[in-house]
Amino acid sequence: MLNFVDDPLAIGLANVLQAWGKVNILGIMSSVSSRYAPPAIDAINTFYGHGNIPIAIQKPVDNSTIDPNYPKYPEYLTGLTFLFPEDIRDGANTTDPVTLYRRHLADAADKSITLIIIGFFDNLYHLSLSKPDDISPLGGMQLLRQKVTELIVQGDDVGKSFNFVGHNGTFATVLNEWKGRMMFVPDAIGDSVFVGKRLTSETSMGNPVAYAFKTGIGLNENHQSWDIVAMYYAICGVRPAFTTTHERGHVQVAPDGSTTWNESRTPNLQNSLSLQINNATFARNLESMLIWEPGQPFPSHDACIVGF
Ligand SMILES: *[C@@H]1O[C@H](CO)[C@@H](O)[C@H](O)[C@H]1NC(C)=O
Ligand SMILES: *[C@@H]1O[C@H](CO)[C@@H](O)[C@H](O)[C@H]1NC(C)=O
Ligand SMILES: *[C@@H]1O[C@H](CO)[C@@H](O)[C@H](O)[C@H]1NC(C)=O
Ligand SMILES: *[C@@H]1O[C@H](CO)[C@@H](O)[C@H](O)[C@H]1NC(C)=O
Ligand SMILES: *[C@@H]1O[C@H](CO)[C@@H](O)[C@H](O)[C@H]1NC(C)=O
Repeated sequence: MLNFVDDPLAIGLANVLQAWGKVNILGIMSSVSSRYAPPAIDAINTFYGHGNIPIAIQKPVDNSTIDPNYPKYPEYLTGLTFLFPEDIRDGANTTDPVTLYRRHLADAADKSITLIIIGFFDNLYHLSLSKPDDISPLGGMQLLRQKVTELIVQGDDVGKSFNFVGHNGTFATVLNEWKGRMMFVPDAIGDSVFVGKRLTSETSMGNPVAYAFKTGIGLNENHQSWDIVAMYYAICGVRPAFTTTHERGHVQVAPDGSTTWNESRTPNLQNSLSLQINNATFARNLESMLIWEPGQPFPSHDACIVGF
């Protein structure tokens, strides 16, 4: 959540689907260190009436707003922080991600939590190493195994995706310890599904998600949708948009964050998606969701297929 717009759009999509009754967002952890990321996330949640969703970021925070490797995209974090209603003001005011994760996992019923990673793996790695404490007698990896039903990852099961190698690749090796259900939402889907034009033209001035897109990409433009696709899968599932690609196997993450697929384990708990329907149809569906605003009518049929 620096100057890439798929992150705010993914968070916007989750908020829309929460308003439509499809999901209950328990918490959002930033994996970049910008002090402006938590207030920006809170501005989005607040717009949809969900300003009480807990947000956490690892400390110390810094003043970054742009990924130095991608300076060509203008930043939207300070705009979201200062131009939109929110009440965090500064990421320094938030909880530590490991603490927030441990509280939610400790409180949850067994196998009741879906965890989606659309950024780097710092927080999950640090959680996995966390020791029993006064929140829970379980270590971090035990808590994950007991409480999480599925882990969803935006990135490739074979290759070198941005979220794996963009920080410290070692953090992504935490996936080697995860023995439960896991779905990869590969870059190739988002590469071919473009959204944005309707978001910039059919929404109100007060819409923080549209603001992020207009600022970061531009009016009447379209852009790839990586994290948005992953969020859609996390909430709506495989059908009708996707198929799975592997008969069996599991991922292996190397210390540099690169991934390979090992066919040898069965039954198959890990898999990767491919897009089953036409990319324009899927893009229309995502954007029909993204342009919804509070006060407008709810969809009259299945909230996951409004634009098909
Ligand atoms: C970060 O921003 C704060 C608040 O605007 C300012 O006080 C501080 O000096 C900045 N820090 C750096 C390292 O630029
Ligand atoms: C958050 O931090 C800012 C700047 O450090 C401070 O002025 C503000 O009072 C804090 N807000 C809350 C709710 O703690
Ligand atoms: C990456 O993280 C690991 C684990 O914290 C650490 O041992 C290693 O030094 C880090 N590598 C870099 C390049 O920062
Ligand atoms: C569908 O994919 C084609 C080929 O990659 C691309 O040119 C087109 O813009 C895509 N359409 C949408 C709506 O994403
Ligand atoms: C594949 O995974 C199995 C365990 O499921 C392991 O025994 C084997 O060494 C792995 N193969 C390679 C090439 O790493």
